[in-house]
Amino acid sequence: MSGPGSMFRHAMVAVAFAIGTMGVAAQTLLPGEAAKPGDRDTGGVRPPTEKLEHGRIVFVQSSCHFCHGTDLTQAQMGAADLMHDQLVGMDVDGNLIGVIAKAGLPNLQTSMPSFSELTPQQISDLAAYVHYLRQVGRYKEAMAYTKPGDAAAGKVFFEGDGGCAKCHSTADRKSVAIAGKAKMLMPAGAVPKEDLTPSAGAVAHQHLLETATVTQWQDVATYMGTLQ
Ligand code: HEC
Ligand code: HEC
Repeated sequence: MSGPGSMFRHAMVAVAFAIGTMGVAAQTLLPGEAAKPGDRDTGGVRPPTEKLEHGRIVFVQSSCHFCHGTDLTQAQMGAADLMHDQLVGMDVDGNLIGVIAKAGLPNLQTSMPSFSELTPQQISDLAAYVHYLRQVGRYKEAMAYTKPGDAAAGKVFFEGDGGCAKCHSTADRKSVAIAGKAKMLMPAGAVPKEDLTPSAGAVAHQHLLETATVTQWQDVATYMGTLQ
């Protein structure tokens, strides 16, 4: 670890820890410390697999949370909101997140330091953790969204851009409709578990959760409600 990016980062970590020790209830998790539910630096989320836990450690050690927030939304110092940012939604296994993290974004008013020493494994774990936080956050956001949906728009999305009809046949639609919004957002197979390699369908659902908007989900849920 060397270079100005690294020095800047250590300064940031020191500041973050200083702030953490000032608060009474706010406990700042030290890098490498095991996450417990409610821990501040995980946004209250305990990662369910070893890979995600390794990713969380890279995230905290690199102080990503200091600028992007523990749940990716509390963007500080002009940092991007990684929960809604389009680029993160397009990333596959760190192919975009890794390039940005390694290079940094030095020419902005508030720079993002470069994390050039990250290994391919660390980038893969880090990206997996960022995607996990993003999916958890967007799941909560879509569940909390209660404005009435538009069934006609939902049908168009189901048969078009959502790609749902490619995998869910007409006969299948009724059982899918009964499953409800929570299962639609995150089917059982799309929830990360140790020793589970998600199916192509589950991966497609994880990607949809990171790209479809709360309104699109509400429209599809409303459309499916008309099929029951
Ligand atoms: C010192 C603050 C800081 C730290 C630490 C930091 N970032 Fe950033 N990050 C930024 C800023 C500022 C931007 C640019 C925001 C913009 O373009 O609007 C950014 C942008 C990004 C983007 C690109 C978003 C886009 O669509 O252009 C990604 C991805 C990202 N950061 C990931 C990370 C990861 C992963 C880490 C930890 C390894 C990290 N950042 C650490 C400040 C930071
Ligand atoms: C690439 C194929 C694919 C696409 C695209 C897809 N799904 Fe699925 N879907 C699946 C598979 C496979 C499962 C079962 C996943 C599991 O739990 O293992 C599933 C599960 C579901 C479930 C839960 C069913 C249950 O009984 O738990 C709902 C609801 C659902 N999908 C709706 C949708 C909607 C709405 C879209 C479009 C926005 C969509 N799917 C897009 C393959 C797909």
